[in-house]
Amino acid sequence: MSDGTAAQLGIDVGGTTIKGAVVDLAAGDLAGGIHTEPTPPEASPSDVAAAIGRIAATAGWSGPVGVALPGVIDGSCLRHAPNLSSAWEENGALACLRAPEGANAVLINDADAAGLAELTYGDAGLDRDGLTIVLTFGTGIGSALLHNGDLIANSELGGLVGSNGSFEEIASGRAISSEELSPVEWARRAQPFFDELETMLNPSRWVVGGGLSENFDRFASRLRLSKPISVAHLGVHAGVVGAAVAASRAGRGREGSELR
Ligand code: BGC
Repeated sequence: MSDGTAAQLGIDVGGTTIKGAVVDLAAGDLAGGIHTEPTPPEASPSDVAAAIGRIAATAGWSGPVGVALPGVIDGSCLRHAPNLSSAWEENGALACLRAPEGANAVLINDADAAGLAELTYGDAGLDRDGLTIVLTFGTGIGSALLHNGDLIANSELGGLVGSNGSFEEIASGRAISSEELSPVEWARRAQPFFDELETMLNPSRWVVGGGLSENFDRFASRLRLSKPISVAHLGVHAGVVGAAVAASRAGRGREGSELR
């Protein structure tokens, strides 16, 4: 299926899992099943391109693909991607994903994809004045800044360093599972992160996505915040849906060929 308007394949490349689905762009939801593959250890661009090809074939999709990546798309390479291999940093690393005869992908940072999905299909409140900070808690901590209805890409707030190291290292979804953090222990680590961002950026609201969206009530209720916090409207599928939106917008020429 590839009619270029109503549906689009979106893929979310995580540090643990690569998942993809055909997205119904009018409804902002999955049009079919979600297809997943484990991310290989030290996954290289060609490993990921091959996985995208398999997912596209399983979904019966041909044509351009929207791909959300866990790092900053910087010209021909990907930076700040500690959960993939260093091969992504080499010039030209992204060529195999973009090649029309390969994955033919439109690329976007994974947290920005989640933010784009929220902007497109989420709470209408995101269109009002002010700054919404979207934080995705998965293998890493991703961030998207939504300002007056626009996405400000590549914010990388999870790299902020607190007194016990970077918040991505101590308070991500991976830290919760590998260290078996209770909601109280997690909140003790995450609270200074939110406090710091509140002081620096004065957001008017927070949205939490990634794996933590499935346990949002247990964890987020422990935070002490002065502004409202909600779970990502599209939950764990926000990256897949946002990747599909990025590809469809690129096709229509609304935001250039890619979102950087
Ligand atoms: C990367 C971000 C990404 C986040 C979530 C971080 O390690 O630097 O670009 O959004 O992980 O995957």
